[in-house]
Amino acid sequence: MIRRDPPGPLDRDLERRAALAEADAAGTPLGYLDDPASYQLDVRRFDHGSRAPGYREASDPTKDPIEVPDPAQVAVPADLRAEIEDHMSRYPDHRSAAIPALAAAQRVHGWCSPEAVEQVACVMRLTPAYLTAVATFYDMLETTPVGRKTVYVCTNISCSLRGADAVLARLRDELGHDPDVNLRGFECLGACDIAPMASIDGVYVGPIDDEDIAVLAAQIRDGSDPLPAKQLVRRRVADAAANSDEVSRQSTDAGTLDPVDLSGGRA
Ligand code: FES
Repeated sequence: MIRRDPPGPLDRDLERRAALAEADAAGTPLGYLDDPASYQLDVRRFDHGSRAPGYREASDPTKDPIEVPDPAQVAVPADLRAEIEDHMSRYPDHRSAAIPALAAAQRVHGWCSPEAVEQVACVMRLTPAYLTAVATFYDMLETTPVGRKTVYVCTNISCSLRGADAVLARLRDELGHDPDVNLRGFECLGACDIAPMASIDGVYVGPIDDEDIAVLAAQIRDGSDPLPAKQLVRRRVADAAANSDEVSRQSTDAGTLDPVDLSGGRA
């Protein structure tokens, strides 16, 4: 075996495997590996067995193809039209703007309703069927009515191991009946280092502790800034020169965030 000093992850893995093989050969109990019930979590799944919602509505090939909408027949809000045309102008093939165009229509209508899809189709000169195929594929585009406040709780592996299923269950208890809230479990949101975490209208917060949940639910209900001291955008990084309390939230036009004391009382 090639040894490095200090040992790297590969060395440690080889050592672990060798120790397990040795213990197995000697009939030594392997701890939790001998008792699957001790490390299996109760993981919620959809009826078809997956944790992802999946595709539920089959297409109907007997229906007549739907035409590109006639601009004389479809009223499109001026702001929405301008935004869709702006997205279209950014791509060599204007169909590449389908996702941001549908997202823009979703912000206006609350979901990708038939009316919203028809308006996008009218501006982009595409069939509603083309856009419906896009909207039903991407699960941040909603094809049924939902609440306007979007709360995604990550239930992927890192967050699950840190209690995400309990976070989601408790937020469901708090917010599950609020028609303004679109609360869902979600696959990895790419912020595993703050697990368990959630995205509140695009603002990442975590790690979410038990005592945070009631506070977070109240903040979601009244529309206030969610867990300011636990927002990813405010998190300190190793490069001290890169840290600032004046953080621009680039994903929205909200401007500058209020400074938050992250020092924990330290000078
Ligand atoms: S597993 Fe939750 S953010 Fe990656």
